[in-house]
Amino acid sequence: MAFPAFLAIVLLQETVFQNEWPTDLAADDAVAITAGADGSMLLFPTIEPNFAANNGVDDSVNNLLSHVGEAPCEAGDLVQFAGAVALSNCPGAPQLEFMAGRPNKTIPAIEGLIPEPSDNVTAILERFADAGNFSPFEVVSLLASHSVARADKVDETIDAAPFDSTPFTFDTQIFLEVLLKGTGFPGTGNNSGEVMSPLPLSSGNDTGEMRLQSDFELARDPRTACFWQGFVNQQELMALSFKVAMAKLAILGHSRADLIDCSDVVPATVRTPVKPASFPATKSARDLELTSGAKETLIPHCTNGGQDCPAVQFDGPA
Ligand code: HEM
Ligand SMILES: *[C@@H]1O[C@H](CO)[C@@H](O)[C@H](O)[C@H]1NC(C)=O
Ligand SMILES: *[C@@H]1O[C@H](CO)[C@@H](O)[C@H](O)[C@H]1NC(C)=O
Ligand SMILES: *[C@@H]1O[C@H](CO)[C@@H](O)[C@H](O)[C@H]1NC(C)=O
Ligand SMILES: *[C@@H]1O[C@H](CO)[C@@H](O)[C@H](O)[C@H]1NC(C)=O
Repeated sequence: MAFPAFLAIVLLQETVFQNEWPTDLAADDAVAITAGADGSMLLFPTIEPNFAANNGVDDSVNNLLSHVGEAPCEAGDLVQFAGAVALSNCPGAPQLEFMAGRPNKTIPAIEGLIPEPSDNVTAILERFADAGNFSPFEVVSLLASHSVARADKVDETIDAAPFDSTPFTFDTQIFLEVLLKGTGFPGTGNNSGEVMSPLPLSSGNDTGEMRLQSDFELARDPRTACFWQGFVNQQELMALSFKVAMAKLAILGHSRADLIDCSDVVPATVRTPVKPASFPATKSARDLELTSGAKETLIPHCTNGGQDCPAVQFDGPA
């Protein structure tokens, strides 16, 4: 196997999760990497930095990549691997596939994939379809990642605004909470790509929930709403769908046959059980905004769905 898995695991587990770089690395790297101690900053860093202002993530990626020469592995491999390792620390997360042997130059192929949060659903779906033939279902599946995500750049005035109330758990709360009626903003209210969230309350360093306009629209658009709603409280379905869509995303621009399956080296996910999805305190089913335009079902009178047909009567005791 071309990939020095044990070395990378030791390196990543120590640096990301115990906040220590090996002593031969510069101190400022530690700062960038420890900022991601919750795992989220290093999740899929090859793609997320494309959000126009996402400098925070960029730094961590650059730091990681600048040391790739020191570890005998390829940049693309290490970054994908870092994502899989980071995710393995979140309760509820699937164990991601990891394929090695990707040439470095493939990172730009994924670059530019992630749309802006102000993009409309048509633009988002077209982008993913063009880039990797992703279906609307797969796009929604990938957004399970926002279950363990927080934003620094959408509203520069607040730090680490979570997208759901359980940002350290890979659960289905994101799919429930984005369906709730928005009531306010965790910070300022005039940011591009942000809409009102249902849990905007902040206190001290506890930042209120942020809602991306893109998540809001994907949860309500007829092309994606059923998939979005369908993940609520379906932990296994969500985790597996995410894993499958991630496997496709991770090898974008490659043929599987050219890569080596190194999934065995991805650490087992943590065993902490995940609680069922639940309404946050003060919220209930009355706050749900399910797909608009839904009407109570009419039961057809005739077998052909029409209104005019001979009545069928059964002779019976009643
Ligand atoms: C509809 C497409 C998407 C849009 C519009 C979008 C947008 C965003 C935005 C605006 C942020 C906050 C960045 C910041 O302010 O720091 C974010 C965070 C994040 N997104 Fe996405 N995203 C999309 C798809 C994805 C996908 C496909 C993944 C992974 C498979 C992903 C993973 C993440 C993660 C892990 C974070 C947290 C980063 C951090 O904690 O610093 N997103 N996303
Ligand atoms: C990938 O990039 C790293 C760091 O820039 C470099 O050391 C390595 O030789 C590259 N590998 C390939 C196959 O180009
Ligand atoms: C969606 O965004 C695209 C690209 O910005 C734009 O051309 C299109 O008109 C928008 N569609 C709707 C329905 O707003
Ligand atoms: C948003 O509004 C606040 C106060 O009204 C202002 O200070 C800030 O510059 C605005 N931000 C943007 C991005 O327009
Ligand atoms: C908020 O976080 C900063 C930086 O970690 C820390 O210095 C400060 O004491 C925290 N605030 C409170 C109220 O704990």
